[in-house]
Amino acid sequence: MNDSKRNEIVRSDFDDFTPVAPTFVTPRLRLRTAQPGDENFLAALDGDADVMQYIHSGPRSPKAAMKSAKNEIEMARFRWHFHKWIVELRENGTQIGWVELSKFRGVFDRNADRISDDVNLGYEFSKAYWGQGFAPEAAGAVLDHAFNELELERVVAFARKDNVRSTRVLEKLRFRQRAASRYRDAGGHVCELFALSAEDWRS
Ligand SMILES: CC(C)(COP(=O)(O)OP(=O)(O)OC[C@H]1O[C@@H](n2cnc3c(N)ncnc32)[C@H](O)[C@@H]1OP(=O)(O)O)[C@@H](O)C(=O)NCCC(=O)NCCS
Repeated sequence: MNDSKRNEIVRSDFDDFTPVAPTFVTPRLRLRTAQPGDENFLAALDGDADVMQYIHSGPRSPKAAMKSAKNEIEMARFRWHFHKWIVELRENGTQIGWVELSKFRGVFDRNADRISDDVNLGYEFSKAYWGQGFAPEAAGAVLDHAFNELELERVVAFARKDNVRSTRVLEKLRFRQRAASRYRDAGGHVCELFALSAEDWRS
């Protein structure tokens, strides 16, 4: 089978596949699946120097950010448990950020003395909306889903030590810092490993 034929079959098989991830509503926010039309918003976040200051190698080029945003939206049609949710203000539908659960493999957790094969919590918000508690509110809805619906035993998160805002969000969500992990992000920076157990989340 040549490549063009293979692509044709994939497209016709999945054209009717609609996103199935749940939508969450919190007092101020609505979290929904990433969908066509969100490309510019996602690419703008990944291209923003302030948002990306502590992530990987920093802001992406407009071309790389758009490519990644399009891939993300395409993949949203096929994802269920591990998903990226767009966060909108309920009052006017403005997109303000995203929260995701992703599978994260191969990080050594010294406390547990094992290679972690965990689900990771990630988030990015537009700078104009920082400092109003939106990240913990949105991440809280996703963690409810992770522990109550997906029945995960724990969720992990990574943040660079100097990313004090993100570290504070994790503290507020009751994540505990683990002993130093060996994980380095794509920019080569050492990241701190945090973990939240289902028990701590429910307590
Ligand atoms: C990290 C991020 C998601 C936080 O979102 P948020 O909605 O602003 O979170 P909060 O409103 O709860 O604020 C977080 C804390 O940062 C603190 N903070 C704000 N500015 C700060 C500063 N200059 N120095 C230290 N702490 C600061 C706030 O005091 C707040 O803690 P508090 O509620 O105890 O007062 C947001 O800053 C962001 O999107 N950053 C860029 C992307 C990113 O780094 N993602 C995480 C990668 S690990």
